[in-house]
Amino acid sequence: MNKKNICIIYGGKSGEHEISIRSASSVVKTLDENKYNKILIGIDKTGRWYLQPEAEESLRKTGILTLTTDEARKIVIIPSEGFFADHKKLDIDFVMPVLHGTNGEDGTIQGLLELMDIPYSGAGVLGSSVGMDKEITKKIWASEGLETVPFKSLNLEVFSDDAFPLNDFLNGLEKEYGYPLFVKPVRAGSSVGISRAENPEELKAALPKAFQFDSRIMIEPAIDAREIECSVIGNLTAAAYQTGEIAPTHEFYDYEAKYIDENGARLIIPANLDTETSEKIREIAVKAYVSAGIEGMARVDFFIDRRNGKILLNEVNTIPGFTSISMFPKLCEAGGLEYSDMLDKLIELGEERIKLNRKLDFNI
Ligand SMILES: Nc1ncnc2c1ncn2[C@@H]1O[C@H](COP(=O)(O)OP(=O)(O)O)[C@@H](O)[C@H]1O
Ligand SMILES: [Mg+2]
Repeated sequence: MNKKNICIIYGGKSGEHEISIRSASSVVKTLDENKYNKILIGIDKTGRWYLQPEAEESLRKTGILTLTTDEARKIVIIPSEGFFADHKKLDIDFVMPVLHGTNGEDGTIQGLLELMDIPYSGAGVLGSSVGMDKEITKKIWASEGLETVPFKSLNLEVFSDDAFPLNDFLNGLEKEYGYPLFVKPVRAGSSVGISRAENPEELKAALPKAFQFDSRIMIEPAIDAREIECSVIGNLTAAAYQTGEIAPTHEFYDYEAKYIDENGARLIIPANLDTETSEKIREIAVKAYVSAGIEGMARVDFFIDRRNGKILLNEVNTIPGFTSISMFPKLCEAGGLEYSDMLDKLIELGEERIKLNRKLDFNI
């Protein structure tokens, strides 16, 4: 069998650069050497792309990929031809973007790969950009009759206008939702820019913090909730794997709890739910995924309101954390799909999609 040349792209300009390196390290370690040659491209924090050394010493020694920025190995792209480094064309059959957040999970790199006619893993342009945008996602879900936490959004341009009646806006939020409130950037991840506000002072301080990461923010009532996540894989016919629960030891599942504090959260797999609830969640997860136009994979995140048991969709992640101890691969495994088989499947799904696209004929 001919080995496929899989290109793993990692790092990136987003705030989740380090997380991406960790996710990619797990992917590179797990991809079956008998089936695949691995080509590594690292994107540094300023957005420059570099071909990485083949034999990744550091991966073998420390388990974590490094990211070298050798100018001679800078990536040059010719859209109709492919990737080049050091004047040589890279022989790439398939790309796995293992990038979180901005420029990785938001449809931009997916668009580049579409232009280049290279198959890739995960959601396409539309599903990626929808999934990145918490406001648009919730609007789509609402139109499908899927329940979410209510919200109000605010645009930086409106907020910055001297005529904007800030106090009326804040009073309106207080009246409609009460405290505590959550303030978050519309297009971010890893809890960056998110605050929980208990009073008007905290609410006021939370707005610019969220605006640091996006020109659109949203404010929603805090739900006293259990946090449940579900892995979904597939193109048009998607399947939900197991459900898991995140039990943060912090006030909420903030950046520290996610990545810095080793004891920041417990992952409970499968989630301790009765069969009916977990079936319901898996069913909603698939509907949420398909209606948002997602293909390939996603982790769909839920709240269960402790006061009334209501299941509320929170958000979707089209390139979820991928380390071997991350929720997404763990939930697949718990649902009977081993990590390495899951990677094979993501490659198959990307190839399936491009085959369909290549059948299209744009001549009229
Ligand atoms: N409305 C809410 N009620 C309660 N907790 C919330 C709410 N919104 C966000 N959170 C908390 O903040 C965390 C991060 O918010 P989330 O919307 O998932 O953004 P991110 O994309 O950064 O993960 C959640 O996992 C949860 O702990
Ligand atoms: Mg989240």
